[in-house]
Amino acid sequence: MAIFYNEQEQLFHLQSQDMSYMIQLVKGYPAHAYWGKRLDERGNLSNLLMRVERCSFSPNPVAEDRSISLDTLPQEYPQYGTSDFRNPAYHVQLADGSRITELKYSGHRITAGKPPLEGLPAVYVESDKEAQTLELELADPYSGLKAVLSYTIFEQFNAIARSVRFINEGGQPLKLLRGLSASVDFADSDYECLHLSGAWTRERHIQRRELGPGCISIESRRGASSHQHNPFMALLRPATNEEQGEVYGFSLVYSGNFAAAAEVDQFDTTRVSIGLNPFDFAWELSSGEAFQTPEAVLVYSDEGLGGMSRTYHRLYRKRLCRGVHRDKERPILVNNWEATYFDFDAEKIEAIASEGSELGIELFVLDDGWFGKRDDDTTSLGDWTVDRAKLPGGLEDLAQRVNRLGLQFGLWVEPEMVSPESVLYQTHPDWCLHVPGRRRTEARSQLVLDYSRADVRDYIFEALSSILKQVPVAYVKWDMNRNMTEIGSAALAADRQMEIAHRYILGLYELLERLTAAFPHILFESCSGGGGRFDPGMLYYMPQTWTSDDTDAVERLKIQYGTSIVYPVSSMGAHVSAVPNHQVGRITSLTTRGDVAMSGNFGYELDLTKLAQEEKDMIKRQVAEYKEIRSLVQNGDLFRLKSPFLGNETAWMFVSEDRKEAVVYYFRVLAEPNAPLRRLKLKGLNPEYTYLQQTTGEAVRGDRLMHVGLHAPTETGDFISFSVRLRAIEE
Ligand code: DGJ
Repeated sequence: MAIFYNEQEQLFHLQSQDMSYMIQLVKGYPAHAYWGKRLDERGNLSNLLMRVERCSFSPNPVAEDRSISLDTLPQEYPQYGTSDFRNPAYHVQLADGSRITELKYSGHRITAGKPPLEGLPAVYVESDKEAQTLELELADPYSGLKAVLSYTIFEQFNAIARSVRFINEGGQPLKLLRGLSASVDFADSDYECLHLSGAWTRERHIQRRELGPGCISIESRRGASSHQHNPFMALLRPATNEEQGEVYGFSLVYSGNFAAAAEVDQFDTTRVSIGLNPFDFAWELSSGEAFQTPEAVLVYSDEGLGGMSRTYHRLYRKRLCRGVHRDKERPILVNNWEATYFDFDAEKIEAIASEGSELGIELFVLDDGWFGKRDDDTTSLGDWTVDRAKLPGGLEDLAQRVNRLGLQFGLWVEPEMVSPESVLYQTHPDWCLHVPGRRRTEARSQLVLDYSRADVRDYIFEALSSILKQVPVAYVKWDMNRNMTEIGSAALAADRQMEIAHRYILGLYELLERLTAAFPHILFESCSGGGGRFDPGMLYYMPQTWTSDDTDAVERLKIQYGTSIVYPVSSMGAHVSAVPNHQVGRITSLTTRGDVAMSGNFGYELDLTKLAQEEKDMIKRQVAEYKEIRSLVQNGDLFRLKSPFLGNETAWMFVSEDRKEAVVYYFRVLAEPNAPLRRLKLKGLNPEYTYLQQTTGEAVRGDRLMHVGLHAPTETGDFISFSVRLRAIEE
């Protein structure tokens, strides 16, 4: 890994193990010269970055040189209004009302390591040897606007982390209207675009479509990264599949409104950009002030989508997630939400925990309904005091009872919300997002607290801290169950109201930083009606997320497969729930439900006291089995074998780093009459090792398993699953 600067060519070459990224200065403009397979550091580039004379509709910023037009120059951080008509990366309004700024090279710095991003989540290094950072300084002397483009390249990963810091060095205030995190111009448009889209209970379904003239864009205006679109986009060559072909991934480390776009222009070049959504955004930059954009993590793979995913998985698992739980095996839990909803008392909870203890479960999670007067979802959010009618001995007593059964105690909270029917709302009606004189739109009978306000955050910090100090809580599920409307703050001046959606997220990050630092032993799991905020920003504070409110095993195939495009398995909560399934009414076997849930952070979400003896026996076996494979699933490499988006079968496997252990899961949704005999070719094994198949005792070489494959099961019936465990043996 290195960053080279060739002064003669004014060329920056960022080089990792298998990847190169190049930036060249052209008349002071930072041009995008190359991104792809690693290039040798020797040799020049001048013939690669071609410039040609175009017609007058592509204007020339340097009048004497008609070969340069910003409309055709591939750029690193394109501007608006000075001859580039494509999507700009930034847009600034000056005090005189004009919107023209022209950022040109004014200096650079290459340093070891990676500096943290102030107030924002970001990937990090543990030693300066792991990465190098290039800071490219651009300036617009007329306005005093300065932008520092930051690029970090890693030793271990084919990834670049990009972000931008704007500084107002002029005497007049500036208004930032748009400030994206990254923009890359690709030389052609022979790509497909892949993104992860969906809705509540069907999050992160894979969408792959051809590029064409114009723009494919995804965004969130919901105040959260959202169930509907994930802050991620990739370009792939049309022939790229799981194992081969080029992929370029763009992932934004942010949890609020974002925008990502792939724009094909008149000359068939493609501009991909990602960052804060410019919609309803403006940020006042007074003289001397700075603004830091979130970080975008760009990954290149020429080993297909699987290669890209494994890079994101390792990077996010090891250098985005933090804290003592980062490298620890995650506990098997039982959660009472789908077991009881709001209808429980201490005895009921203790009975579930007691069954859990018999079955080998390690953590009990008390979900919604334990506080205020919350017997349904219409009241009490904001009143974080225990409901003594349900839990007369309080949380402390309940937690101790659970602990005595040998389980850790976990607690659900939804601290970003307030119910209009609550003491908090009656005391502080101006503490929620609202616009004076307008309706306060409710969703699930709740309003959003104004986290842009420090006093609101302090109140929540104190309310939660006093519980977490008193009660032996080992795990917190942090939920968030609605999106933002009437985005206004009573605490911010009229001309700064367009800052609120972003200030909210900065406030959320600040509070999460304080809480996770104050309670480092607690394992935090984020949740937003399932996967409404499954993004890298949240993973920085909380190493796992509740993947979806849909617990149906068949629906989960697509949700977990789609999520795994970017996010590591160790970040995905997956629970076995009751049948008929509460979301879709489907009946699947306990084996299939177990196999799907064991492909993530495993747990149960059903009333364990209502199970038949044979179900309990099976759960006991599942729990014991997961304990054996847990490290492999949570820390191993994921290889996707068959996509639920392409047919009736789904398969994936986990392989240990030393390739000596693997577990394979295969699922078939609907029975097929008189079906052909199918084989399942494995991946990621060592072709020279011989593997022992645990259930059959058969010993087969890795090359056979990968190139000939296993027989897919021929058993009849819908929704079947089977698993195979492999261990390399000495010959
Ligand atoms: C939405 C979550 O995703 C569920 O798991 C559950 O915690 C409910 N909220 C509780 O209100």
